[in-house]
Amino acid sequence: MRKYLQNLSPILALTFSFSAGAVPLETSQIAIAGPSQIATDIGEQVALAGGNVVDTAVATALALSVTSPYYAAFGGGGFAVVAIDKKLEVLDFREVAPKKMGPDSYKALEKEASRLGGAAIGVPGIPEGLYQLHKKYGKLPWKKLFAEPIKLAEDGFRVSGEWVEMTTEAEAQMNAEGKKHFTVKDKVPKPGEILKQPGLAKALKLFRDQGRKGFYEGDVAKDIASTVQKQKGLMTVEDLKNYKSQWREPLKIKFLGYDVALMPPPSSGGIVIAQALRLFEKLNLNKLEPLSVDELHLIGETLSRTFRGRNLLADPGFHENPLKELQSDAYLDRLTKSINIKKHTTIAPLDMKALKESSQTTHFSVLDKDGNSVAMTITLNGNYGSKMVSEKYGVALNNEMDDFTTILGEPNMFGLVQGAANKVEAGKRPLSSMSPTLVLKDGKVVLSVGSPGGPRIISAVLQVLYRSLVNDFDVDWAIQAPRVHHQYIPDALFVDKNRLSPIVIEKLKERGHKVNTDSHIAKVYAVKLRKDGILEAAYDSRGEGGASGY
Ligand code: DON
Repeated sequence: MRKYLQNLSPILALTFSFSAGAVPLETSQIAIAGPSQIATDIGEQVALAGGNVVDTAVATALALSVTSPYYAAFGGGGFAVVAIDKKLEVLDFREVAPKKMGPDSYKALEKEASRLGGAAIGVPGIPEGLYQLHKKYGKLPWKKLFAEPIKLAEDGFRVSGEWVEMTTEAEAQMNAEGKKHFTVKDKVPKPGEILKQPGLAKALKLFRDQGRKGFYEGDVAKDIASTVQKQKGLMTVEDLKNYKSQWREPLKIKFLGYDVALMPPPSSGGIVIAQALRLFEKLNLNKLEPLSVDELHLIGETLSRTFRGRNLLADPGFHENPLKELQSDAYLDRLTKSINIKKHTTIAPLDMKALKESSQTTHFSVLDKDGNSVAMTITLNGNYGSKMVSEKYGVALNNEMDDFTTILGEPNMFGLVQGAANKVEAGKRPLSSMSPTLVLKDGKVVLSVGSPGGPRIISAVLQVLYRSLVNDFDVDWAIQAPRVHHQYIPDALFVDKNRLSPIVIEKLKERGHKVNTDSHIAKVYAVKLRKDGILEAAYDSRGEGGASGY
């Protein structure tokens, strides 16, 4: 990649207004890339103690629940794609709608109800996910994974700039009892100050000693249900007791001789990425200069068309997803033909009939030298989710209900106007964009990747995959390179803030794109196993991160 840069034309060179040096970590046995150095170091310690990729991932996630509650608290949910001992599976531990909620739940409520307060909260899945993951594939004793995370909660840790930023933003809206867990003498600590979480340490111990029951039954469950109910939510202890994670088959595709294992529904990520990679092939995108105006324009046009099918998707337990139709050549050829290299065009919305005629989060990846991997994306949805924190144990609770189509035709907090299939139903999982992804060569994982960012996750994972597999960028450059995003509605091309030159942005505008340069396009974490057997781990300079391993 660096050699390639020397041959760039001067205008193209200007597109690289990001800096990237060496890959943050190169190592030989196992590597972890994630959002917190403290958490990835704890993962490394577990690996050094003989843990496999699953033990390492579970310990990293337990540590993140302490260091990064705004997106990794036990009150959230997530997905993991797992490759271990030649088995390849997905664990879905997405939140579900409480039993008392249904399609009309939000009609009589205030507009903010699916985002803030008790009615925003889905039944959490993270503890169940970690428990089941370890039960099936863990090697070290369960209790051993808790030593460092509990110490971190009990003795405290130095809060980071990101922690302070996220907590300060959420604090004013938190419930009074909950807020106490994240403040010291009623104030949000400053970066570098120590935060102790004795309540969370107790919850971690109950989970360590009693397994899933320690969280989903008993005192922690009572604390969560009573906090939710005080805040006008309908979740009960029964909802918590009945929560189940689900093992699923990944959505598998072939791309350039690789096997790519993508996240199936209830995520929309896998199917959108699968369609986009096929469109890239049909458009011969690889013949274009990476990061050229033509290439970025076509990536935007592809995303706008592949996101269109998202509206037909929902939890497979409640809805038949038209995955075959969305991947059929006839449908993809029609999408390809509708793309004009010279100017931005948009196509009519999709409904089921048309298709039948012819579909605040974080991530970390662990990958070892033998090609075993866990790619795990977890979330509370918004920053600190619903802003409600369980009173006694200090568990921050999600606002994942906003990922449902709460009111048909209304955009959710990511501007997504979603389909009828994704309506609220008791026990149902809201449609997600989370896209933990594994790329395999000859049965070994060679790239493990994922990101936060709502719908932008999909665009980001797609572009990092593409830069890495097609353009042969090293993992760090693949992550730091500028990205674009289009989600069909709104009709806007989002580009990374300050990462593309004004010349490139002007040229995209000349092609008819309504370019939005306000923010970043997600935050990717990835580990790659190179052909020479070296592991490369990297995190996005768009945020904080850590890379560990040995
Ligand atoms: O599941 C989803 O698609 C969303 N709840 C993810 C939210 C997210 O990524 C926010 N992060 N920055």
